[in-house]
Amino acid sequence: MSTPTRSNPPPATELLIDDHRRVDALFDAFDEADHADEQAEIVTRICRELTVHAELEEKLLYPASRDMLRGDDQDLVDEAFVEHASLKGLMMRLDGMKPSDALFKAYVTVLKEYVQHHVKEEEKEYFPKLRGSDLDLRAVGARMLTLKQELTSALSKLPVTRGKVTAKLLPGPPLEQRAAA
Ligand SMILES: [Fe+2]
Ligand SMILES: [Fe+2]
Repeated sequence: MSTPTRSNPPPATELLIDDHRRVDALFDAFDEADHADEQAEIVTRICRELTVHAELEEKLLYPASRDMLRGDDQDLVDEAFVEHASLKGLMMRLDGMKPSDALFKAYVTVLKEYVQHHVKEEEKEYFPKLRGSDLDLRAVGARMLTLKQELTSALSKLPVTRGKVTAKLLPGPPLEQRAAA
């Protein structure tokens, strides 16, 4: 995708799919990394990418799409919220771990599997429903570009150390309130 601008925003789904591919590439890089420092840095980057991505979806796409989808299709939104909660739980555990910790690699592997499952559902089921709905995906995309810039800027001010990534960016309301928003 060419560089997105707010005057000509791509559909929100395209921006999000772009994020998905970037996270895929980071997991591949983790698999190829030989050194603990490199692995730790890649995991930090994965958690940052996923944290920003989850905020964009939960604040902008999921609430707007619930209003546009009907019946069983609304279940896709609820399931996405619940899957995000699982992913955040794994990320919060990982965020405080070092590569030398016994379960570090297992947490990365399970996070990757959960992300792959969630991404597949979004790309194969949820997003196609949105493309067939009345939701203005370019308008949501424009709002996403703004929020992403804010979140990325907030994250860039945090030191790249363990245990600092997810908690600082996830002080929001509990899942139930987000889902009902
Ligand atoms: Fe996503
Ligand atoms: Fe998601």
